[in-house]
Amino acid sequence: LAPKHVEFEHDGLFPSWDLAQLQRGYQVYKEVCSACHSLNQIAFRNLSELGYNEDEVKAEAANWVVPGVDPNTGEASTRPGTPTDNFPRPYANDVAARAANNNAIPPDLSLMTKARHHGPAYVYSLLTGYQEPSAELLASYPEAAPATGLHHNPYFANLNLAMAPPLTADGQVTYADGTEASIDQMAQDVAAFLTWTAEPSLVERKRAGWPVLGFLLFATILAWLAKKQVWANAK
Ligand code: HEM
Repeated sequence: LAPKHVEFEHDGLFPSWDLAQLQRGYQVYKEVCSACHSLNQIAFRNLSELGYNEDEVKAEAANWVVPGVDPNTGEASTRPGTPTDNFPRPYANDVAARAANNNAIPPDLSLMTKARHHGPAYVYSLLTGYQEPSAELLASYPEAAPATGLHHNPYFANLNLAMAPPLTADGQVTYADGTEASIDQMAQDVAAFLTWTAEPSLVERKRAGWPVLGFLLFATILAWLAKKQVWANAK
């Protein structure tokens, strides 16, 4: 199915980031998605772009456990995160990831909204689109019935995927800003957050279009005036 229609403040001709929404989306990622999905293109210090100050970023990083080395033995171990660390992987390796997820590897989410058509709307639709396969579908394609451990979702290209619905109940997270955490709201918020992770400069890039258009218009007028001047005496 084509993704559902959903609107974000970073869309349109005058885009901006809704920082409160990005912070809520981060909370959903942290409390729900990060159990299975990494975000390995993003470092904790990048969170300062969501409106957190330096101390908050440090405190946030310290809540995460990242791979490290034991200073006494030199053995691999873990330590609390620091702002320069990237978000850690939830599984030690792909074998462990597959073992926990019906043989599928939960993909890294950093660039997910770029990797799929209509990325943000796709993520939103996927999260809110789980349903039983319709009787018509099963009548025409009996093989569309989900196999054991798979879940039907018409927005997923293969129709059935190994991810169980991750957002299952209103109020699954408690938003720090008091927004009501309906499933729909959480799905929109995490989709917005993943749009930011995939292209933090999206708003700047879109805004740069206006001065560029202004300059091109100015240059066109100048060229037209110059042409008139140059050919003024030609008969
Ligand atoms: C796949 C998002 C939570 C396990 C995916 C995909 C997205 C996604 C966008 C890729 C679908 C595609 O390939 O087009 C999210 C978000 C989550 C979340 C936003 C939090 C709200 C979880 C959790 C688990 C999980 C908690 C594990 C319990 C998986 C697995 C796949 C997957 C195994 C691969 C599915 C397959 O290819 O069959 N997820 N996910 N996800 N996710 Fe999640």
